[in-house]
Amino acid sequence: MKRIDFLQKALLAAGGLTAGALSSARAGNPEVIPNPLPPADPEALNIFELEQVAKEKLPTIAYDYYRSGAWDEVTLKSNRESYEKLKIHYRVLVDVADRDLSTTVFGQKISFPIMVAPTAFHKLAHPDGELATARAAVNTGTIMTLSSLSTTTIEEVAAATNKNFWFQLYINKNREYTRDLVARAESAGAKALVVTVDTPMWGRRERDVRNGFHLPPGLSAINLVKYDKDAVAKGQTGAGLGQSFAWMLDATLQWKDMDWLAGITKLPIIIKGVCRADDARIALQHGVKGIVVSNHGGRQMDSAPATIDVLPSIVDAVGNDLTVLMDGGIRRGLDAMKAIAQGAKAVLVGRPVLWGLAAGGQVGVEKALTILRTELDLAMALSGCRNVREINRNLLG
Ligand SMILES: Cc1cc2nc3c(=O)[nH]c(=O)nc-3n(C[C@H](O)[C@H](O)[C@H](O)COP(=O)(O)O)c2cc1C
Repeated sequence: MKRIDFLQKALLAAGGLTAGALSSARAGNPEVIPNPLPPADPEALNIFELEQVAKEKLPTIAYDYYRSGAWDEVTLKSNRESYEKLKIHYRVLVDVADRDLSTTVFGQKISFPIMVAPTAFHKLAHPDGELATARAAVNTGTIMTLSSLSTTTIEEVAAATNKNFWFQLYINKNREYTRDLVARAESAGAKALVVTVDTPMWGRRERDVRNGFHLPPGLSAINLVKYDKDAVAKGQTGAGLGQSFAWMLDATLQWKDMDWLAGITKLPIIIKGVCRADDARIALQHGVKGIVVSNHGGRQMDSAPATIDVLPSIVDAVGNDLTVLMDGGIRRGLDAMKAIAQGAKAVLVGRPVLWGLAAGGQVGVEKALTILRTELDLAMALSGCRNVREINRNLLG
């Protein structure tokens, strides 16, 4: 979309100018009086518009890397579409003047139940990279999960968050490397370990293959370079993520490796990438304390089900024993409300944060998180929920 069209769309969405007024204004009609209260920031009223701002700022190779899904992007699409099928059977005549969005995850209080999902390479979006994201998470009262594939060190993010962050782990074939990385995250002050389990190999994202995705000179998966002397060079070959970063995964990973991991860390282990109730039940026997119902934002197994569709069966299977979180396709506070109604303790957002980061660094991420928080708050008021405990399946009819 051209910039002028986008701004017009944003203004229309904000009610700032009607379509008729816009065309009259274009025709130079002097009687058109612009709305005296234009929106404070007409560029992005919601996450979709924030994505458009990000798209204009980002080089294609980075925008495509962030937005893409695997193969035909069927799961990427259904992650979104499935929210629309859920209807909110709102309650009336409840005093909702005071609302409390806070909740607690693994003993940490967050001011609203939306957290930052681990996403790679934040310096591709903005020079301040993960530090901008980390500070925005702190300022909005939530938790960032730092990716193993970050472009900022674990220690810097620990300092920026006053040790209030989680660390996402890709388990490497070389268990000594993995042990070292876990020890490093733990001693830096991470409060939980999010182990990604939907990546025996990288999903094939054809946009990245076509664009020859690579990191520009100066950027690397900085926490991992010490484990492979060729890591920096591999990241810049242009062979796409599937080849350039294949060395950091382990296709032999099994449940027994979760036992091994539980034996080398005191941090709570949360496995991320579960989409089946039977897998969630197996997790109970392997030292796991939580799960993120996730299909990696549609980037791994294409045609995996939408996370909001499988969430209820997983909550029913393990909700009393494990903390169940979820991610995938959340673009409105209302989507978060639907996930919480289905039993998620909290949700995580990936791309919305990246769009905010690309659009405006720390301020942009704060904006993305605040948009989602404000939308959730309004959705709660409009449906008669005074706190997150009152968001339950009863709302879904
Ligand atoms: C650009 C990008 C990079 C990602 N990098 C990682 C990663 O390094 N580790 C990981 O566990 N998940 C990663 N994910 C998956 C996210 O943690 C999360 O599951 C997904 O983005 C949620 O979907 P959403 O983007 O629709 O919110 C990535 C996702 C995107 C879009």
